[in-house]
Amino acid sequence: MSNKNFYVTTPIYYPSGNLHIGHAYTTVLADVIARYKKENGYNVFFLTGSDEHGQKIETKAKEANLDPKKYVDGMIVGFKELWKKLDINFDRFIRTTDEDHVEGVKKIFTKLLKQDDIYLGEYVGKYCTSCEEFLTKEQMDENFRHSVCKNIAKDLSEETYMLRVSKYHKFLVKLFETNFLIPENRKSEMLNNFINNNLEDLSVTRVTFDWGIKINESDKHIIYVWLDALSNYITALGWGSDNDKLLKQFWSKDSEVLQIVGKEITRFHSIYWPVMLEGLGLKMPDKLLSHGWILVKNEKMSKSLGNVVDPNYIINTYGSDAVRFYISYNLPTENDGSYSDELMIESFNTNLANNIGNLISRVSNMIIKYSDGLLNKVDISKTELFKESQVTIKNFGILMDEYKYSKAIETVLGLGNLANKLIEDSKPWDLDKQGKKKELNLLLSQLQYAIVTINFLLKPILVKSYETMMIQMGVDGSQLSLSSLVKNEISFSKIKEKLIIFKRLAI
Ligand code: MSP
Repeated sequence: MSNKNFYVTTPIYYPSGNLHIGHAYTTVLADVIARYKKENGYNVFFLTGSDEHGQKIETKAKEANLDPKKYVDGMIVGFKELWKKLDINFDRFIRTTDEDHVEGVKKIFTKLLKQDDIYLGEYVGKYCTSCEEFLTKEQMDENFRHSVCKNIAKDLSEETYMLRVSKYHKFLVKLFETNFLIPENRKSEMLNNFINNNLEDLSVTRVTFDWGIKINESDKHIIYVWLDALSNYITALGWGSDNDKLLKQFWSKDSEVLQIVGKEITRFHSIYWPVMLEGLGLKMPDKLLSHGWILVKNEKMSKSLGNVVDPNYIINTYGSDAVRFYISYNLPTENDGSYSDELMIESFNTNLANNIGNLISRVSNMIIKYSDGLLNKVDISKTELFKESQVTIKNFGILMDEYKYSKAIETVLGLGNLANKLIEDSKPWDLDKQGKKKELNLLLSQLQYAIVTINFLLKPILVKSYETMMIQMGVDGSQLSLSSLVKNEISFSKIKEKLIIFKRLAI
């Protein structure tokens, strides 16, 4: 077993409605990086799941005339089906109703209470029922509308246990001096609006509804969704149970921990979660990647705004690889992005059909035509495209290790463009006519290597097409490793078929 460990998490999503492509965005990013790290020799644990407690779910279940557990059981089926369709290969799907999670959360609460990191107090403030969040002034307009979901927040005052966040001001300031939160531009909002703006304690229990985890210390207090939800990242690994082998392996100094979230929940993950972890004596995540939103006509795509795009529809229409590619390439994490069918088709045609698909079919056709499907082995180490391929492998790795998916893919597409250009410039059909067999063989060999490189680097994204892309290059993709690619130790077999990969979509 390798000694490199990597733990990646997504938020656990509310089963208060169906998932949309905003949720698919985060989950695909996590899946891609998990596959990439595995390819690079890491032991990987990839966690996703569902956040099933709280008032909103309770209300939804009532509306559906179901017991809340029955209601969420039904919703989860759709979650899992969607992830399967999108080739999301998680190691655990945690549900906050899972018994081990419930036990773990109770223990976390008790430990923090005993240490006086949690105390009994009262909360008075504006509360957004739809987002299950007490709001600060900055999060509402003058009519107390929540800026995220546009619902009107209501006054709420109740006895509640509080997490002593204020005590951790210095700790948080120090934490924010490191670059654990990326991209950089999210930091100042957290510092200015929360950490350095009267950092308040956080209410962590409710007495006004039932659907949640009861604390051991009192009958009436239910753990508020965020303490319950955030804990999932460690209960999933066995925190507080007899079997905490995974915790020791994946939440340790010998493991790289990446947590991916959408920007609206950055506050919970960059402030309250680190406070909880510090209270529990655990390390901080190495990176919290907070990505932008998918917008529809400049508004956040969200269930409450009713402007969602169903991922099932786009997967059925364009295929899961196309969706995974669009998310990873066309939605750079530092900005907000958009989705529309037009944008999807344009990206697919430009990048997958015209650049990569076309390159594969041109080169494989020429190998079949000029060399009966198999090229003569020749030293390509001095050729332009071989050198560029090596640079691309290196740059792709550097960018992926910084979680810059879009830029990493851009380098691969750049190699594709270069290969296409080399074909135009060196006109293999003329070399054939002139009987320049050696030159032609060398040219096609470097093109073949560049394409194998492109295919291999895009493997974490183009999960379904990968093997076909490789077959079309005469390579058994399942047998190829990164090190054999780098060393150019690839065994080629005769290319026989003419498979069409990424057929252009009609506009
Ligand atoms: N249950 C909480 C998270 C608890 S994590 C300990 C929650 N759930 S949610 O169902 O509302 O999902 C929020 C997440 O969905 C965001 O963090 C983001 O990953 C994703 N997105 C939801 N809408 C989105 C967009 N319009 N654009 C991009 N991502 C979005 O919050």
